[in-house]
Amino acid sequence: MSSRLAVLRIATAAVLTLAMAGCSAPLSENWVRYSFAPAPEDSGQAAETPPATDQGTKPEAERTPPNCSKVKCVALTFDDGPGKYTPELLSLLDQYDAKATFFLIGKNVKKHPQIVRDELSKGHEIGNHTWSHKDLTKVSIAAAKRDLQKTDDAIKEATGTDPTLVRPPFGALPRSLKKNLSVPIALWDVDTLDWKTRNTKSTIKAAEKIVPGSIVLMHDIHKSTIDAVPAILKDLSSKGYHFVTVTELIGHPNPGIGYGSGQRPATSKG
Ligand code: NI
Repeated sequence: MSSRLAVLRIATAAVLTLAMAGCSAPLSENWVRYSFAPAPEDSGQAAETPPATDQGTKPEAERTPPNCSKVKCVALTFDDGPGKYTPELLSLLDQYDAKATFFLIGKNVKKHPQIVRDELSKGHEIGNHTWSHKDLTKVSIAAAKRDLQKTDDAIKEATGTDPTLVRPPFGALPRSLKKNLSVPIALWDVDTLDWKTRNTKSTIKAAEKIVPGSIVLMHDIHKSTIDAVPAILKDLSSKGYHFVTVTELIGHPNPGIGYGSGQRPATSKG
């Protein structure tokens, strides 16, 4: 074969390899369990620093997250806050150097901006959970977009940074809106049903379903959940788990893609 053809073949192979590497990224449109990716050295968002404001929110000092492709990781997530129990939860998490992800309700952000700043400054991740817990499939696309934007704006106003994830209430998101999202969609695969049982023992029991790579759904607006957290942290910690944010767990989540296999709107409140 001519050398020109050989070059073409090599180039084609390189393109195919790149394309396949792209496919091996955790694309879970069917909410299937994603494969692990090594923790990113550079998320590409490091340059995003909060504007200089008198609120002085600063991300936690550089922290190297654990490599979740090599060690056991779990992403604990807390929805519907911030609320009056959140500060207690933040201290509990600190005791285990545990990082979590908070999916915030916009109107609660307006009420408790300092708590949101504390979440971020302690190294937790922040996601958008709509302004007032609306089912985004029950309103127009335009209204859903406005709702998410208003919530993003409230988070930005409070912290100087944008949320890095979205979790639609009930895990429900119109397909056409999904394509337009600039951030990944975080669902869950272990639902503690804490919002339903409002029972500390049941919440601890539900957490026994956690396996490496789980995204765990809880709510920091219930005292019964906060009271379950010490036992959950202690148990998982003794089993060698690292508590990471959703983005740290996944590695390089892609905008508009849903992560977590647990979309069960019939039984989950989200
Ligand atoms: Ni919710």
